[in-house]
Amino acid sequence: MAIFLATYMGLFSSLWVGTKFFLSISIFGSIFLVALLHATGYLYFRPALTPDQDATKLLSPTRWLRLFFILSFASSLVLIFMQRRSTVYHPINTLMSDAKRDHSQWIGQAKQSTNLEEATKEYRKRYNQAPPPGFDIWYQYATNRSSVIIDDYDQIYKDILPFRAMEPKVLRELTNSMTSNQWNEVAAVIVRGGVAKPQAEIKPTHRWMIEGVVEIIKPFAKHLPDMDIAFNINDEPRVAVPWEKIQELNQTINDREQLPDDRLTTKWSDNRSLSWALSGSNDQNTHKHFVENSFRNIYHHIFSPTCPPDSKARTEFIWDYSKLCVECAEPHSLEQFVKNWELSGDACHQPDLAWLHGFFISPASFKVSQNLLPVFSQSKAIGFNDILYPSAWNYIDKVKYDPSDEHPDHPYTKKESSSVFWRGTTSEGRSENGGWKGMSRQRLLHLANNHTANDVSVLLPYTPSDTPFAYQTVSTDSISKSLSLNTSIYIAESVARCSDRDCDVQTKEFGTSPRVDFQDHWKYRFLFDTDGAGFSGRFLSFLESRSVPFRTALFRQWLDGRLTPWLHFVPQDLRMHDMWSTLAYFSGAKTHDDDGNVVKVLMEPHDREGEMIAEEGRKWVHQALRYEDMEIYFFRLLLEWGRITDDARDELGFKL
Ligand SMILES: *[C@@H]1O[C@H](CO)[C@@H](O)[C@H](O)[C@H]1NC(C)=O
Ligand SMILES: *[C@@H]1O[C@H](CO)[C@@H](O)[C@H](O)[C@H]1NC(C)=O
Ligand SMILES: *[C@@H]1O[C@H](CO)[C@@H](O)[C@H](O)[C@H]1NC(C)=O
Ligand SMILES: *[C@@H]1O[C@H](CO)[C@@H](O)[C@H](O)[C@H]1NC(C)=O
Repeated sequence: MAIFLATYMGLFSSLWVGTKFFLSISIFGSIFLVALLHATGYLYFRPALTPDQDATKLLSPTRWLRLFFILSFASSLVLIFMQRRSTVYHPINTLMSDAKRDHSQWIGQAKQSTNLEEATKEYRKRYNQAPPPGFDIWYQYATNRSSVIIDDYDQIYKDILPFRAMEPKVLRELTNSMTSNQWNEVAAVIVRGGVAKPQAEIKPTHRWMIEGVVEIIKPFAKHLPDMDIAFNINDEPRVAVPWEKIQELNQTINDREQLPDDRLTTKWSDNRSLSWALSGSNDQNTHKHFVENSFRNIYHHIFSPTCPPDSKARTEFIWDYSKLCVECAEPHSLEQFVKNWELSGDACHQPDLAWLHGFFISPASFKVSQNLLPVFSQSKAIGFNDILYPSAWNYIDKVKYDPSDEHPDHPYTKKESSSVFWRGTTSEGRSENGGWKGMSRQRLLHLANNHTANDVSVLLPYTPSDTPFAYQTVSTDSISKSLSLNTSIYIAESVARCSDRDCDVQTKEFGTSPRVDFQDHWKYRFLFDTDGAGFSGRFLSFLESRSVPFRTALFRQWLDGRLTPWLHFVPQDLRMHDMWSTLAYFSGAKTHDDDGNVVKVLMEPHDREGEMIAEEGRKWVHQALRYEDMEIYFFRLLLEWGRITDDARDELGFKL
């Protein structure tokens, strides 16, 4: 009876809350309960004993104690066993409660300091150097705009660090040299006397991008020293330095000491403007810094050298791409689901991605350098050495979240339930010999509309056994119906980026659909988000909406460090084998008879959880991903760029 009650209590509370914390509470609770019941039994039975029974034996304290330990041990074992099975509650519940905890821990350390002095100390502690000159103005700029992040700018530090191994003069010359030849597809923003301007000669089609960057810099340009900055005008990242070379550079950096305040100067070098002039030959051919690698698979000769020598990217070659590579997904997964978002974007342990993403299969424009170059890019795959900056795409509202009476964004539960939406073009890479079959956008289309050959494995409640959840095979014919899904996942207008033959085949395979107004998205509960040729420009709008973004991505942006998957958005594996189970969790599952009537509800929809993610993402956009936050990030980044390109950089630093 006691064991039963205790077990029941433990089970109930762990189902209810699903955290280890409550599990341990329940264990202690059951121990307490067992003790209580035995004490009651002792008091109750004692008077009923006949005098000739050996009362002392029955009442011996050691005996009671032994019994108590055995019982509580047994009930704890049962609970621990259930915890180990981990199917007592759905893995997404675990991931969501972990996400909540991770985010509050992250936010706690991201803004520890409450004044400039603390921020300076914290900077020295984290980044093993003094903050750059102008840090006090940056601090004021950030706090004036109520930045919720003051201390954690790890991405900037990581991006800039390798350049410490290069002389300031070399960095300046490379910047000027790259931007002096349009073939490089890199364009400059020039800051002189506190005013930022785009370089004169830029491809007209890409000029908006550099003008957009100037818009972001404008509000704080007057606080910047004279500098040039080289921006990648392509979507794809540009710099992939092999792992061994980065290690070598790293060695030269690690020996630096941290200067005390009295040896620091806060004054930028004189005549910085003169130092940015391009010296040497004006022959443009001498300023080609990249190697053309478009339209071919780049995984093995460009990407994998950036990985450690013992990584799978460098030691394994996957031949059969038709099978799911379970070991490739395993390091970043909890069962079918993405557990570690950052790791899931690291292709070093995932050699199967060589044929599962347009960027690896056949990038549409890819001029790459395997030498370290100071190129500022909007997004990159992990392993690349581009310096990330907040894209102008979002700052100047190339796609804007702009609901209206005509296109309202109702709260999650008021939206059409179980509706999944995606519209886009086949822009992830260029397909010439059937490469489209592996690209993630095309795979998404195929999964949603044409995936009729195989059964899929979906995690669903499973009553006949003692496991509450189990992977069950569902036929693809009935999957949409079982999950009551209303999917609208189509190519907008026509197939793009392909040879004639591949265009025809894809059009036949996928069909096309008329373009829809971007603001139509908000009708749907679940918005799929995938990479294009680079990062997805729509993601921030999806995040701001009251819909739930389902995001699969190889590319990472400046903002990824501040986002928590399973709290702000729903992460999806690049293989998308988790898609149906994830949708089943949020939208519920039923079985139907031949006439389409519901026979049985297999799983109730998790509306509360869906709404939570929709609203948390939205709230976070308004707190930490505002236009102001893009400026604050960029300001701090450019102070670092100013310092690292200054001849006196080792003595330069902010002091109180
Ligand atoms: C911060 O706000 C104060 C008060 O409005 C203003 O004087 C100061 O110039 C602002 N600082 C920056 C860097 O924007
Ligand atoms: C550089 O070295 C440090 C310390 O040895 C290490 O933590 C860091 O990961 C290295 N960076 C790279 C890019 O390998
Ligand atoms: C800066 O340039 C001016 C004018 O060219 C020159 O007079 C001055 O000496 C330079 N200062 C330094 C520190 O090089
Ligand atoms: C795939 O699905 C789309 C959308 O439903 C349809 O237009 C197309 O004909 C299908 N392709 C094949 C080969 O069945």
